[in-house]
Parts: sequence; structure tokens; C-alpha cells
Amino acid sequence: MALLVIGFTLLLVNAAGAGKKPLFDYADHYVMLNDFGRNNFYRAALASAMPRCSGCRVLDLGAGSGLLAMLAAEYGAQQVVALEANPALAELANKTVEANRGLWPPDTEISVLAQLSSHLEKTTGASELFDVLVTETFGTMLLGESALSFVSDARKRLLKPSGHIIPAGGCQYATLVQLQDLSPWHPRPWRGFNLSRLTDLQDTIYWKAMFGASDFGLERLSERRCVLEVDLQHMSPDDIPKNRTYRIQAQKSGVIHAVLFDWDIWADPQKKEVLSTAPGSRNFAGDVAWGWLLQLQEAAGENWQFGDSPQQLRVEAGQWLEMVVEYIAHGVSMNVRVRHSPQGATFTSQDALPTLSSPSRILRPDRFAVKEANEFVLPIAGDHERHDFYAFAVEEAVRQLQQDNLTLLNLTLLDCSSNAGMPGFWAANLGIKSLVMPRWDHIAGVLRQIAEESVIPRNHTAEVLAGDPREMFDILLPENKRANIVVMDPPGTPLHGLSPFALLPSIRKELLEANGLVVPGHACLEVALMESEELSQMFSIPGGHWHEVDLRVWNEEARKQGVLSQLVPYTKWLGSRSSLRFRWLSAPKCVYHVDLNTWPHGLPAKENFGLELRVEEEGLVHAIVARWAVFSGPRRLSADSRYLGRDLTWPHYVQVVAQPDTDPGLLEPVPTSKGLAKLQLSVRHGPAKDKCLQIT
Ligand SMILES: C[S@@+](CC[C@H](N)C(=O)[O-])C[C@H]1O[C@@H](n2cnc3c(N)ncnc32)[C@H](O)[C@@H]1O
Ligand SMILES: *[C@@H]1O[C@H](CO)[C@@H](O)[C@H](O)[C@H]1NC(C)=O
Ligand SMILES: *[C@@H]1O[C@H](CO)[C@@H](O)[C@H](O)[C@H]1NC(C)=O
Ligand SMILES: *[C@@H]1O[C@H](CO)[C@@H](O)[C@H](O)[C@H]1NC(C)=O
Ligand SMILES: *[C@@H]1O[C@H](CO)[C@@H](O)[C@H](O)[C@H]1NC(C)=O
Ligand SMILES: *[C@@H]1O[C@H](CO)[C@@H](O)[C@H](O)[C@H]1NC(C)=O
Ligand SMILES: *[C@@H]1O[C@H](CO)[C@@H](O)[C@H](O)[C@H]1NC(C)=O
Repeated sequence: MALLVIGFTLLLVNAAGAGKKPLFDYADHYVMLNDFGRNNFYRAALASAMPRCSGCRVLDLGAGSGLLAMLAAEYGAQQVVALEANPALAELANKTVEANRGLWPPDTEISVLAQLSSHLEKTTGASELFDVLVTETFGTMLLGESALSFVSDARKRLLKPSGHIIPAGGCQYATLVQLQDLSPWHPRPWRGFNLSRLTDLQDTIYWKAMFGASDFGLERLSERRCVLEVDLQHMSPDDIPKNRTYRIQAQKSGVIHAVLFDWDIWADPQKKEVLSTAPGSRNFAGDVAWGWLLQLQEAAGENWQFGDSPQQLRVEAGQWLEMVVEYIAHGVSMNVRVRHSPQGATFTSQDALPTLSSPSRILRPDRFAVKEANEFVLPIAGDHERHDFYAFAVEEAVRQLQQDNLTLLNLTLLDCSSNAGMPGFWAANLGIKSLVMPRWDHIAGVLRQIAEESVIPRNHTAEVLAGDPREMFDILLPENKRANIVVMDPPGTPLHGLSPFALLPSIRKELLEANGLVVPGHACLEVALMESEELSQMFSIPGGHWHEVDLRVWNEEARKQGVLSQLVPYTKWLGSRSSLRFRWLSAPKCVYHVDLNTWPHGLPAKENFGLELRVEEEGLVHAIVARWAVFSGPRRLSADSRYLGRDLTWPHYVQVVAQPDTDPGLLEPVPTSKGLAKLQLSVRHGPAKDKCLQIT
């Protein structure tokens, strides 16, 4: 019998409580601290540089946890100044340094300053300048956190002329790739609806998909081309051009779906010690920490313009292509466009580019709308299993209403879901008057076209209107007319707060018939216990140490921030393409049911449940994992799917589990044996509050 009592909280909120996240949250540092390849790279670089520098003064620019400052001290620096712009992090770094005093000689001085490097006073007198500048301020794009700008400023003002920078430099690479599975961005037709028109929403310029730690099926069609080499010892942001054209040869035949961005940095100018973010080159946490980016591609035409719909870029091995790279904000970001070399064209590498303006298709809509289209609408549109489920659920609702002698032709359906209009259009096909409400105008425009070109009979009504239904009660329905069916997203869909818990109270009050039905009608939270040290590396330091470095204050902080008492959403890391190593110790079990046709009527603001999970495997519990499933009659739809777009849009929620009454800095996982595990679930209903985790 497993003796395990874990409490966890589920909060069903009825308002979106979106607070803006600071650039560097404390939480981002757990994956960095568990990025062993990264830590070892810096350790080796400092171990080699420190002994060559007597009485060495070191500046750690962007200190975060203070790890690099501590390694510098450990390997012989005399004095280290650690700069960290985020004051909360600086305080934590201070505590971390305090906890590790024994690692360096007592006369070594480490000071942590809560300051942006560019605000650090210019030191007077050469003796106060630094011998070594060490920094790890690199983003998913090499210069994404403005490292070149901060380093060149610090180099000029704060470093000795003979000073040494770690790393010496690096390179941003671009590789042309074909994706094994393009379905999240190129939805295939479903039951007579041509969804490929939705690819007109594809943003080939600005939007980049962030991946990492996933087995994604990439085929490289070109070499990995260095498109920006950065020499931190000498360069400044002004050295970065606005754009450059490259000639690049296809090494394999295929379709160029995307450009993969990853980078290397090297410790020394000889490039002997290299750290890479290339897919699959690091451990799980490391791969999550930086990840890599995919920028979708289409064939660029004359003047590098795109058409009204994306054109496939098919290449044969050996063919030459032209690639233009735009360097945004001195290389903080980059965009790539590719086209076939014109027949017989002679190529000049620094050709001024004629008009490199962005195509109107992508510039027209609002930036948020474009991001949402690419991150949610397209991946969901390709989810046929989801459309099948919703079609069934609509038919099921119709059957139920017909028992009340309501005829099909007199029914009205309001589709507030993000299913690319499919539930509404399917209902229209059956003869129901349907209104589909996507959030954005340009998405509505494409959906209208899809409806017009589809199998829906001419005399059936399928209207599409962009907006938030809660703000449009007066426009939506004729006076005294209410909808018989309202279609909702499953709980947990991270789309602009239109979760059932946000929508239902006002929909029921203003828009739904008294005997009207919500589709889907039923949801439940599935919960399981998981063994996965890699998962626990996302928000803690397993064992509290990295080698000799004591990082227990980070676990105490994690505890303080509530990771042991709240469910936190993770979209990609538990999906079918994730490279996370994990073992379910219990099968996911429905533990909390929500009848969406009555919620929240009659429910207290707070409920507590004791529950039991059957543990099927002996092991170590690192986390509780939860996810929503929705039901219609016998059918079920949940996060578990081989479809990549589901991974991207349907979250799992995770809460860390640790043994009580042990060293709070160690966060030891809980051993369990076969039998029943007891858990305590508490559920709160109500408006979002600050600092509260929300499952919406
Ligand atoms: C990628 S983290 C690395 C942290 C730490 N060096 C490590 O290796 O674990 C970068 C940190 O640098 C801070 N930072 C970035 N640019 C900075 C600057 N110019 N001055 C001070 N802090 C900066 C950020 O707030 C963030 O915490
Ligand atoms: C770090 O701690 C020292 C004293 O232990 C204090 O003087 C200093 O202000 C602290 N720095 C930060 C950034 O909290
Ligand atoms: C679907 O629409 C696209 C245009 O968006 C068109 O090129 C394609 O031929 C259509 N497919 C079918 C099967 O009608
Ligand atoms: C591309 O670079 C050239 C040369 O540096 C510059 O004249 C031109 O304005 C750039 N075009 C764009 C769109 O940035
Ligand atoms: C529906 O109509 C049938 C006869 O047409 C009648 O027997 C039945 O009571 C009606 N049901 C309802 C719910 O009105
Ligand atoms: C639809 O409802 C109206 C009353 O609202 C009724 O007059 C009409 O006969 C109904 N039509 C059908 C086809 O049931
Ligand atoms: C549409 O027309 C077909 C035949 O032309 C008819 O059977 C059907 O009832 C009509 N539907 C509506 C909603 O008027």
C-alpha cells in the first residue's frame, strides 16, 4: 500500500488573468542550471582561463544564479563582480553565493550587483578594469538577448585592452529543412471542406515556431550555413549589416518547408571548445532552455515578394538557390527568404536587394492575429480527430433536442470554438442555422471562403462573424431569439480566454435557450503520477546540487513560488513528439467531472476531494500530471494523440512532488509501491486572482 498524500489545486477561473511575464523569470533558470552541457562548457573555459590570469578580476555579465561567477572564483579569480539586472534574481544569486563560500579561498571577493551592465559606472583607473568578461546572455537566437550590444559596451568601458572574453564568439546558423509532418500548418481537407485555403494565414516572415527537446522529423536539404559570425572580442552592433544574400545549393531533393535556426559559441578564438544548440546535441533540460526556431518557408518571387497564397519551394539535389537574410535590430532577430536562382543568373554576393518589403498578405492583419493563426488556428484546423469528435457531438446534441420536438430547421447554433469553423459548418450542412465566431477578421474572411467553396447547400445558412461573443449579444441574434446549441473549446485551450469557464456564465445568461445545449457537454480532469527526473529538471534542481555547487536555495525558492502546490501548464513537453523520458506510475484517471451544461450552477466556490489512484508500477514519483478530456456520449477527446498539432495546442499540467519532512532544498521524489495512493484535490471556482495558477 503506497502511503502518499499529496494536495493539489485546480482553479477554474471565469476571467482571463493575463499578467505580463518578465523577460527572465526565476523559473527560466531551472532549465539553464540543469543544462549540463552548457555548465560544463563554461566550467572548462573558466578552468582554463583563470590559472593564466594572476589576481584576476572577472565580470560576470548577466549572472542569473551566479553560477559562472562562482566557477570563476573556484578556479582562481581574485575578485568577481556579478551583474544581474533582475533584482529578485540578484538576491537569489547572493544567497547562492553565500551558500557556496567554502568553494573558494576566503580572500576571494564575489559581489552581486542588481544592475544592468550598461548602467554600471565607468570605473576609473586601469587597475579597476576587468581581466575577464564571462557571459551567458544568449537567447534562442544567438543575439536574441542583445548580447553583442551589452558585451561591446562593457568591453569598451570596463575591460582591460588586453582583456579576455568568454565566449570569444559564435555563429548563428540557418539550414533549409523539410519537415516529416507539415500537417499543423497545412491542414488537409475534411469531409468536403477544403482547409488548405487556411494556409493563406501562414506567416512566412515574422512568425517562428519554437521547438526543442522533440523528435520532430527534420530532413536537412542544405548545409548548415553560418549566416552571422559574431566576434565578441572585436565587434559592435553597427558591424551587423541590414541584409545579405547567399547562394546555397540543395544537397537533397525535396520541399523546403522551413529554415532551422540554431547556433554555436566557442570558448576561444581557435574554436576548439564549442557549445551548440543544434537539435539533439544536449540533454533534455538544455534542449528546452534554448530550443531552436523554425521559420516556415515558401517560394519567394521577383523582388523577394510572396503571392496571395504560399507556393511550395521544391528543389532537386544540386540545384542552386538564393537566400536572403534580413538582420533585424542588429541581429537580435533574423528572417530568411529563399528562391530558385533565375536560369543563367550570375550571382553577386552583396547585391543590393531591390525591394525587400514584406508581402501584403502577411502585413495586412494585426500581429496578434497572425501569431494566433499560426500557433493555434492552423494546428487545430489540421486535427481531423478533433473535427470528427465535434461533428459527432453536434449530431448528439441535435438528437437530444429533437426529443423535445424541436425540428432541425428551426435550430440555431453558435460556434465559439477555435475549430476552424468545422462544428458550425457541419451543423449548417445538416440544416441548422449556424454562426461561427472566430476572434479575428482575417480568419473570418478565410472561413467564409471555405464555407462558400464547400459542400454546404446554398439555402443553408452558415454565417461567420469575427469577435468575442460576450461583447456582441445585441448583434448576434434577433431579439428574443437564443441559440439552441453553443459550441465551446475544451477547458485548457490557451486561446484568448474563451474557455468554457470564461464563456459559460455570460453565454447562459444572454445567449442560450433555457433548454439549449453546450457542446461538448462534459469534461473531466485526468490525473496520474509520473516518474521523470527530466520533468523535475524543468522546475527544480534534483538533489539540490550540480557537482560541487550547492543550489538548494533554488529548490527552496521553487517551494516558495508554489510549484509543489499548483498545477502549471506545459504544452509540448508531454506530447507524443517530446524527447522527455518518463514513466507513468499510475494510469491517467478521471478525478474531477464538470457538466458543462450546468457549470457553475450550485457549486461552492471551493471544493475539496480526497481521491485514490491505483499505482501500477514501483518507482519514484516526481510529479502529478493532469490534463483535460472532453466527452460526448461514448466519444472522448484528450491530449493523447499522435497528431503533432495536438501537442502544440492541448496542455498537460504538472505539479512537482517532494517528500515532506526532508531537507526542503533537496526536493526528494517520493518512492511508491503498487497499491493505492491517496491524493487531496481542491478546486476553486471564481475570477482569476494574481499569483494564482489557472486552469482555464
Ligand atoms: C541566460 S541567463 C544566464 C544566467 C547565468 N549566467 C547562468 O549561466 O546560469 C542571462 C541572465 O542575464 C541577465 N541579463 C541579461 N543581460 C544583462 C545585462 N546587460 N546586465 C545585467 N543582467 C543581464 C538576465 O536577467 C538573465 O538572468
Ligand atoms: C548581497 O548581500 C550583501 C550582504 O550579504 C549585501 O550587502 C548586498 O547588498 C546584497 N546584494 C544584493 C544584490 O542583494
Ligand atoms: C483547395 O483550395 C486551394 C486554394 O486555396 C486550391 O488550390 C485547391 O485546388 C483546392 N483543393 C480542392 C480539392 O478543391
Ligand atoms: C539591404 O541592404 C542594402 C545594403 O546594405 C541596403 O541598401 C538596403 O536598404 C537593405 N534592404 C533592406 C530592405 O533592408
Ligand atoms: C413530441 O410530439 C409527440 C407527438 O408528435 C408527443 O407525443 C410528445 O409528447 C412531444 N414531446 C414533447 C417533449 O413535447
Ligand atoms: C419554426 O418555429 C416557428 C415558430 O417560432 C414556427 O412557426 C414554424 O412552423 C417552425 N418551423 C418549422 C420548420 O418547424
Ligand atoms: C434546401 O433545399 C433543399 C432542396 O432544394 C430542401 O430539401 C431543404 O429543405 C432546404 N433547406 C432549407 C434550410 O431550406
